[in-house]
Amino acid sequence: MHWKEAYQQKLCTANEAVSAGIHSGDRVVFGHGACEPEILVKAMIDNKAAYSDITVSQMVSASPAATTLPENSDVFRYEGWFTGAYATKAIQEGRADYVPIFFHEIPKMIRSGVFRVDVAMITVSRPDEHGYVSLGVSSDYTMQAVKSARTVIAEVNDQCPYTYGETFIPVEELDYIVETSRPLPEMPPVPVTPVAEAVAKNVASLIKDGDNLQLGIGAIPEATLAQLGDRKHLGIHSEMISDGVVDLYNKGAIDCSRKTLDNGKMVIGFIIGTKKLYDFADHNPAIELRQIDYVNHPEVVAQLNDMVCINSCVQVDLLGQIASESIGPKLISGVGGQVDFVRGARDSHDGKGRAIIAMPSVLEKKDGTRISKIVPELDEGAAVTTSRNDADYLITEYGIAHLTGRTMRDRARLLIGIAHPDFREGLIKSFEERFKTKY
Ligand code: COA
Repeated sequence: MHWKEAYQQKLCTANEAVSAGIHSGDRVVFGHGACEPEILVKAMIDNKAAYSDITVSQMVSASPAATTLPENSDVFRYEGWFTGAYATKAIQEGRADYVPIFFHEIPKMIRSGVFRVDVAMITVSRPDEHGYVSLGVSSDYTMQAVKSARTVIAEVNDQCPYTYGETFIPVEELDYIVETSRPLPEMPPVPVTPVAEAVAKNVASLIKDGDNLQLGIGAIPEATLAQLGDRKHLGIHSEMISDGVVDLYNKGAIDCSRKTLDNGKMVIGFIIGTKKLYDFADHNPAIELRQIDYVNHPEVVAQLNDMVCINSCVQVDLLGQIASESIGPKLISGVGGQVDFVRGARDSHDGKGRAIIAMPSVLEKKDGTRISKIVPELDEGAAVTTSRNDADYLITEYGIAHLTGRTMRDRARLLIGIAHPDFREGLIKSFEERFKTKY
């Protein structure tokens, strides 16, 4: 059968697709971030009287995670592989769960059945002339979910970019097709504060021409990109990119020409930003979206030359233990790819990898008080995301602490040296008590 005929046979309404494709007891996996098929999710929720005991899994929800709302939690149980702005509240309030997992392991967990996928619900581009749709904004775990699912329900959205890499699905492999035309969810860049800019300048001082970059989430990675306009031949190998990469590419700073792996290509797991980024990615041969067990696998990251990863955290203690997922016991994020890249960069085959965790030295609270992000001990109940054994560079607006290979006392001294001056006295007191030695 010609693919066009198959396509026509699978065309249906959103309600028909979710009614026929989803059954009680299923685990439904949504495409990641902007790949979440909003129209199908809404139809599934509208149809909830027909179901019981549905588990929903995904990484980040770029739309308001309606399955986690109190009125829907009688039917839907959310088990996130990350948290994200929308699901975090439900997790904090006990209506949803988080599965701690390194991002690069998710496809393997799907393949092995640890994460069963009954239904994959995705957003894809329109098919090309050969009958292939593109996953557009997410290959990472979404591609494996599609391959392993009993049933694949796709929103074919004519505003979804057609991207290259491990993104192609023949229309024959889709079970239900629902055509839509809607803008993808957007995540605009976070405004850069003067402090974030000062931190970013210190980060940028470690980045030279020809380096390969991974950029995590948060204000600092975005602010760092803005400091790199005069670099040449930068490469990108990153689980995600956002709008800042487009500006840097257009300035000529990124060309991936010195990458020894995937030369000439930006290799990415997913993209999330504004229409500017989605338009940039559309039919762009400079971008390849790959599955996350390739992009984030520490053994792959270690093969890249001059690898620099830039991530952020909530708190770091004087031993160099880095908490990035919670404030004490209160979960606010997930591990995502932080440890994947920290380990890969530290393990670089050329010995030139740099694993950076960058943050403002203090958190300015809404009531005007300030707390140090460098602390004697992590808040009780905090999860350690990057262990002290993996910690490499810690950076604030006050400087750079390079911890690798340093003693516990040296590390603590270096960290106090980049703390906000107002908090150094207290940290020194803790140092002297812990290490029984003068600062
Ligand atoms: N004590 C108390 N609260 C703190 C805190 C601290 N030391 N540090 C941050 N917070 C709070 C902030 O007030 C903010 O709360 P709000 O949302 O209510 O305003 C929240 O935590 C996030 O802090 P913010 O400074 O806005 O974070 P960011 O956007 O720069 O992101 C992380 C920082 C750590 C949350 C983010 O980098 C992350 O999720 N990291 C883990 C995953 C990761 O690194 N993945 C890598 C590849 S994607």
